[in-house]
Amino acid sequence: MTDTAHEKNCVVLRAENLHRWLGEDENRVHALKGVSLSLEAGKVHAVVGPSGCGKSTLLYLLGLLDRPDEGDIWLLGKHMTKASEARRTPVRNEHLGFVFQFHFLMPEFTAAENIMLPMRKLNRLTEIQMKERADQILQEVGLEDKGQRLAYHLSGGEQQRVAVGRALANDPGLILADEPTGNLDQQNSDSIFSLLCRLAGEKKQAVLIVTHNLDLARQCDHTFSLVDGNLT
Ligand SMILES: Nc1ncnc2c1ncn2[C@@H]1O[C@H](COP(=O)(O)OP(=O)(O)O)[C@@H](O)[C@H]1O
Ligand SMILES: [Mg+2]
Repeated sequence: MTDTAHEKNCVVLRAENLHRWLGEDENRVHALKGVSLSLEAGKVHAVVGPSGCGKSTLLYLLGLLDRPDEGDIWLLGKHMTKASEARRTPVRNEHLGFVFQFHFLMPEFTAAENIMLPMRKLNRLTEIQMKERADQILQEVGLEDKGQRLAYHLSGGEQQRVAVGRALANDPGLILADEPTGNLDQQNSDSIFSLLCRLAGEKKQAVLIVTHNLDLARQCDHTFSLVDGNLT
């Protein structure tokens, strides 16, 4: 296999037989019942399913924000499910980018400062390098003229672009997006979706989009349906 072919088929994250129970006593639900999947570099993957079927629960496990009751996750070949939080946190900061339905930006910070936050956490770049990188990302997400705008002075679509930019800050191998277009009108929704697809293609990042929008899901490279706690 050539290097390029290898890169194209590269598995960034692999999950095997994930189980997750949620809630207490009589409210206890078996939300995930043995989910397995692989996420590949440069591909956009969708997980679809109705509200309450366990999509966010799965994304939290894959994003190392929660732990499965059973099953394994490998990120870039490293087994992460039993690793300590002290090991998982830097891996999450460096290799994963998150986009949520609500942008969770710091409203009093500028767009550029919001994008720099994950870089500050990783603490590998100088102030000047961080600013240069933020400028480059602002261009990539189509906000080159809005970097100095406070987040709360941006439109909903622009705020979500900043959130995508923040997810790109440390050039992660995998972007996990939980209903990233759920709070946007059709036009902004299409444009955020196209942006995520373009980034996957250009930067060879793996992208996973959790959505209940079947139109978007159909345009992805791989679509999984979460039904009764399992992927089909
Ligand atoms: N912390 C929790 N405690 C108890 N039940 C929960 C908890 N979080 C989610 N659930 C339940 O687990 C199921 C899956 O939730 P979730 O993953 O948020 O679904 P989705 O993202 O597909 O809407 C739902 O029935 C939800 O009510
Ligand atoms: Mg959800």
